[in-house]
Amino acid sequence: MKILITGSAKRIGAAIARYFAEKGHAIFVHCNTSVKEAEALVASFPNPSIHKILQADLTLPDAPAKLFKKLKKTPPDVLINNASVYSRIPLADATPSAVQDAMAINFMIPFELMRCFHNDCKKGNIINILDHRIDLPDPKSGPYAFAKKALRDATLAAAIDWAPDIRVNAVAPAFVLPPDGVPLEKMDRLIQGSPAKVRPTPLDIARAIDYLLQTPCLTGEIIHLASGLHLLSPEAAAQEKPKA
Ligand SMILES: NC(=O)c1ccc[n+]([C@@H]2O[C@H](COP(=O)([O-])OP(=O)(O)OC[C@H]3O[C@@H](n4cnc5c(N)ncnc54)[C@H](OP(=O)(O)O)[C@@H]3O)[C@@H](O)[C@H]2O)c1
Repeated sequence: MKILITGSAKRIGAAIARYFAEKGHAIFVHCNTSVKEAEALVASFPNPSIHKILQADLTLPDAPAKLFKKLKKTPPDVLINNASVYSRIPLADATPSAVQDAMAINFMIPFELMRCFHNDCKKGNIINILDHRIDLPDPKSGPYAFAKKALRDATLAAAIDWAPDIRVNAVAPAFVLPPDGVPLEKMDRLIQGSPAKVRPTPLDIARAIDYLLQTPCLTGEIIHLASGLHLLSPEAAAQEKPKA
């Protein structure tokens, strides 16, 4: 398969790219600022020449359509919407421009990429990377969570509308990797507030995506990789007792 993964030069996207590259698939590694990391990643894959690096700031006008234009001769079989920006903005500070920025990269662009995939590629699979915050209100992650919830709805609507040619599924992880500069132990402390108390790994995400791709009866499915955190309100999660 040819798999386009947005924002896949580093972190979770890179782990997904490596997982599928090692299984023999051709990866279109999309990046924005992390071109050097993308080059090093692809050079470390088996058969580096079958993969491709695509650089684009997806917030620029028509960037999703331009990206797909570059792939006209080799349309991807799979689109994985991974690129994102996480922001914690208190609701009272969520100005229209802050909300617009969060909605752009976390909803409008992935949705536009879904539309491009539908119109240009006609068949295949779309996987959206959501977040465990899609189920319950999380005031501290306001605009980011609003956008991921909108992308969840787009996942479900497209799963109905674009079947049977295109299956549309998603994964919704909890705390996997902290933002740059924040220690991993902080994620581990947060995950102690979940029922199962196990931090999901980038490899767990890649394996869940592989399962969704390999199982033809699945569409409109969202796999939560969250140790049960998605079942608790953020306040309840903070009160959960750490494992003895
Ligand atoms: N990290 C977690 O614990 C966690 C938890 C729940 C859900 N998730 C979800 O899992 C996915 C991956 O998470 P992550 O933490 O690995 O993501 P991340 O590092 O925050 O972002 C991934 C990539 O998105 C790209 N990106 C950002 N703005 C862009 C733009 N304007 N144009 C093009 N690309 C842009 C960046 O590419 P460049 O570096 O090339 O600029 C970045 O490397 C995301 O969808 C996230 O919401 C993550």
